[in-house]
Amino acid sequence: MTDQELIKVAEKYRGYAYNPYSHFAVGAAVLTKKGNVYGGCNIENSSYPVTNCAERTAIFKAVSEGEREIEAIALTADTDGPCAPCGACRQVIAEFRIPKIIMSNLKGDTRVVTLEELLPFAFSPEDLT
Ligand code: THU
Repeated sequence: MTDQELIKVAEKYRGYAYNPYSHFAVGAAVLTKKGNVYGGCNIENSSYPVTNCAERTAIFKAVSEGEREIEAIALTADTDGPCAPCGACRQVIAEFRIPKIIMSNLKGDTRVVTLEELLPFAFSPEDLT
């Protein structure tokens, strides 16, 4: 699957965003080592901090299906430049060591970064040992 194809899946899932408070829609999609794709959207809550971002929705869908080896994540939103993951999502992306992060927007701008670029000096599972 190409980066563009993964972005297309993220765009599709952006359409499912539950965003009655911010009205900001985000879509994400992860590609697993097995070749499966899981999409996600942001899911807001009237208790605002309970909101789940699109990236975490997609990652948690994969993990809850028994897939922990994720090769790439794409996300998209209607932003000026390629939409970047929030800090909480960066920490989850680091937890599952997703090596490739594909940021995009609706205009077709894209930027691909590594996990190290996305979250340098990450707190990782090894720090607990
Ligand atoms: N949001 C995401 O889904 N992913 C991010 O990385 C940034 C923020 C969502 C959360 C909330 O529903 C809306 O965008 C505005 O913050």
